[in-house]
Amino acid sequence: MNLFETIHARQSVRAYLPREIEQDALRRIFDAINQAPSAGNLQAYRVWVVRDSATKQKLAKAALGQDFMAGAPVVLVFCAEPARAGRYGARGAELYCVQDATVAVAYAQLAATALGLATCWIGAFNETEVARILELPTGLRPIAMLPIGYGAETPPRTPRRPLSEMIVERA
Ligand SMILES: Cc1cc2nc3c(=O)[nH]c(=O)nc-3n(C[C@H](O)[C@H](O)[C@H](O)COP(=O)(O)O)c2cc1C
Repeated sequence: MNLFETIHARQSVRAYLPREIEQDALRRIFDAINQAPSAGNLQAYRVWVVRDSATKQKLAKAALGQDFMAGAPVVLVFCAEPARAGRYGARGAELYCVQDATVAVAYAQLAATALGLATCWIGAFNETEVARILELPTGLRPIAMLPIGYGAETPPRTPRRPLSEMIVERA
């Protein structure tokens, strides 16, 4: 799959096979994450890797009961690390670290897709609750969770807005 095929192949999958992810596949996903751009190359985020079933279930509850998450063999939790972007003041602490972590999620999704794995971005969750469950160090802010596994469903494709509505050519 080339990049454009991978981009088109990615879709949110919310059911996973009870099959482990090979360690090498995970390593390649982590490496892809590490190649993502970041403000000032500070990489102001950290990624928690959750495999433990009880913890995944707690995270799913914190994600407003999105229980399908717990069916994935691995859940990555992307946490913005404002202190690492402190050099950029409020913009670093409030925006850049969140953007860094967000780009990393996108890289992880595409890498997983290229490896034949399925993911679903989870953004709806109680941040305080997730931080408590993972015992995150003070200041770290969970911004997205990403269950990864072999897909057990092929959902219909979601529609997209027409480009003409989104892309603004300024004369
Ligand atoms: C910021 C963000 C938050 C999201 N939160 C959730 C979520 O909490 N639960 C969920 O099932 N999907 C979530 N999604 C996935 C979207 O629903 C999905 O990407 C969108 O419907 C387009 O479908 P596709 O991913 O299959 O192309 C989220 C996606 C993004 C980018």
